Amino acid sequence: MAAIKALAENALSAALRPMNSGDVAAVAAIEQQVQFTPWSATLFADTLRVPRYFGYVLMQAQQLLGFYIVEVIADEATLHNIAVSPEHQSKGFGRQLIEHAIGQCLQTGVTRLMLEVRESNTSAIGLYESLGFELDGVRRDYYSAPWGRENGLLMSRPLS
Ligand SMILES: CC(C)(COP(=O)(O)OP(=O)(O)OC[C@H]1O[C@@H](n2cnc3c(N)ncnc32)[C@H](O)[C@@H]1OP(=O)(O)O)[C@@H](O)C(=O)NCCC(=O)NCCS
Repeated sequence: MAAIKALAENALSAALRPMNSGDVAAVAAIEQQVQFTPWSATLFADTLRVPRYFGYVLMQAQQLLGFYIVEVIADEATLHNIAVSPEHQSKGFGRQLIEHAIGQCLQTGVTRLMLEVRESNTSAIGLYESLGFELDGVRRDYYSAPWGRENGLLMSRPLS
């Protein structure tokens, strides 16, 4: 019960706002900690300047806990990046980020949200499946990995 209460408090006290250029250093710092082939700070900054992309950050007090980046083309969107800082993972923040991204997509008339995930990323795949994403296909040996190459899973869910 105490654990459930702590999870609820964590989720409630963190709020999302649009990502801006002042967030890039903190976002890139999380990215460095959680990705095998991280986006650079320059790539995050460049992405923010392109209108078809939008990003949000999850803030608790003054601390940036996580973020996501989505690209919208016509009525389809792609979740290009999502991460929660290691010390705040498994507290429901990843779910909060994706649910927010879905809400933003719905507001702009997007009818399908797509993503790609490493086959070994079982926690992310579990999260996506629990949110209704389904497997569309496999990109064989798409990613570099510590052991060589690994497959990318293409997933999507309709939005309505
Ligand atoms: C993927 C990531 C964003 C998820 O964020 P998070 O805050 O840890 O996720 P949540 O706490 O919201 O997890 C929610 C769900 O994920 C799933 N999940 C979490 N850990 C899991 C695991 N080990 N196995 C299977 N499913 C798991 C569960 O469905 C869980 O549901 P629950 O709320 O009932 O427990 C985060 O782990 C992360 O930043 N990873 C590194 C970057 C990354 O891999 N990004 C995705 C690239 S495609």
